Amino acid sequence: MLPENPATDIEAAAVPDYLISTYEWAYVTPRAVRIFERQWLVNLILWGNYARLSGLALDALGANLDGRTLQVACVYGDLTVRLHARHAPQGQLDVVDVLPVQIGNLARKISVAGLPASAVGIHQADSSALPFAAGYYDRVLLFFLLHEQPEAVRRETLAEAFRVLKPGGRLVIVDYHRPRAWNPLRGVMLGVLAALEPFALDLWRQEIAAWFPERPASVRKRILFGGLYQVVEVVR
Ligand SMILES: C[S@@+](CC[C@H](N)C(=O)[O-])C[C@H]1O[C@@H](n2cnc3c(N)ncnc32)[C@H](O)[C@@H]1O
Repeated sequence: MLPENPATDIEAAAVPDYLISTYEWAYVTPRAVRIFERQWLVNLILWGNYARLSGLALDALGANLDGRTLQVACVYGDLTVRLHARHAPQGQLDVVDVLPVQIGNLARKISVAGLPASAVGIHQADSSALPFAAGYYDRVLLFFLLHEQPEAVRRETLAEAFRVLKPGGRLVIVDYHRPRAWNPLRGVMLGVLAALEPFALDLWRQEIAAWFPERPASVRKRILFGGLYQVVEVVR
C-alpha cells in the first residue's frame, strides 16, 4: 500500500547559494524569467534539440500515465504542459522548484494552457530535501537539473529522487554529457559551460550513475547529438 502524501512544504525552502552565485542570470529574478521563458531561445541554447530531448524524456516516461509523476524543477518551455497531457484522468503530476519566481511562472503557463490550477500540484521545495514520503511516486523526471548543481547537492537530489520512487518505479534523467572528440561543438561547449555552468563539466568526467545512492534494477543510457546530451532511464 502506498503511503499518504505527507507534503510538508509549509515552510519555504531557502534558495541555495549556487543558484544565486552561478545562476541568477538564468532563473532567480523576474527579469531572468521574462528573458528566458521563450521556447525558441531555450531551443537555441540546446542547439535546436529542445523538441527532441523533451520528446525523448516524455517517451521514456510513457504514454497514458496513471499513478503519480514528479517533475523535479521547472523547465522553460512547454514540457510540463505536455507531460500533463500524457496523464490518464486518474494520474497525478507534481512539480517542485525552489524558486518562488519559477513556481509563479509555471502556474501562469498552466493557466495560459487553459488548464485548471489544480491540474498540476506545484510545491516550493529543494530537490535535496523533497517533502514527500518514500515510495510515493511511480516516476520521477530530472530534466537538465543535475548539471546545475554542485556535486554534494547533485548526490542529495539523486538520493531524494530514488527515495520518493517506489521500487520498480522509473527515473528519467536528461542532461549534458561529454561530447565525442570529433564533435565540432566540443570546444565551444567547453568554453560556454566553464564560463557559465561550471558544475556541468562534472557530467563530462563522470557517469551520472556514479552519484546514485543505490544500485538500481536497470539503467539504460543513450547519448545523442555527438554525445553532447544523454538520456538515462533508470528502473529502481
Ligand atoms: C531544471 S533546471 C534547467 C532547465 C532547462 N535549462 C530549461 O530549459 O529551463 C532549472 C530549474 O531548476 C531549479 N532548481 C535548481 N536547483 C534546485 C534545487 N536545489 N531544488 C529545486 N529546484 C532547483 C531552478 O530554480 C530552475 O527553475
